[in-house]
Amino acid sequence: MSDVTRFAVLASGRGSNAESLMKAFESGRIPNAELAVVISNRAGAPVLDKAKAHGVDAVLIESKGRERHDYELEMLGALGERHVDHLLLAGYMRVLSRTFLRGWRGQILNIHPSLLPEFPGLRAPERQWAAGVTVAGATVHYVDDGVDTGPVLLQGSLDVRGDEGPDGLAQRILEEVEHVIYPRAVRLFLERTRRESAQTEE
Ligand code: GRF
Repeated sequence: MSDVTRFAVLASGRGSNAESLMKAFESGRIPNAELAVVISNRAGAPVLDKAKAHGVDAVLIESKGRERHDYELEMLGALGERHVDHLLLAGYMRVLSRTFLRGWRGQILNIHPSLLPEFPGLRAPERQWAAGVTVAGATVHYVDDGVDTGPVLLQGSLDVRGDEGPDGLAQRILEEVEHVIYPRAVRLFLERTRRESAQTEE
């Protein structure tokens, strides 16, 4: 690993978390690290334009209608060419295969809009609203081969007011929690990774 740690963001859509990460890398809030590439599996995903606007390498590797193996092989090629050390999933709507994950064990983070292990899976903010929770939140966790099951790295919460509605709650979780905790979690992850690799070198 070089002195500057290289990250890739994988995202499928809007890319607001990806953008909060771009800003954090740009401003030096994640020290000695850079965002080497943003990869999207969906043509026309707004996250690709956001990456370009921030001067970040934006790559489309379409997954639609392709064998997962071929798609993942292409992705591994793109990551390898750019010497990427770690992956950050941010609204990435594909499940990565076990084979892919084996090569990146402990090196991939994801963000999920609930206080895991509560409300894993899709539409988590809407389900929190429907369940009438008084505290909602988001989680950054390591990715394993389950859906939203890997070890938790960082969580953040908010008090539900009760007048937000499902969309309003989703928006509050996004802006008040996700965009704040993901950059912090990446910083924490790096500190931890660097400490561990210093210990193994001793
Ligand atoms: C976020 O709520 C994230 O937690 C979830 O998917 C959504 C992506 O939103 N995994 P965005 O593309 O980052 O705006």
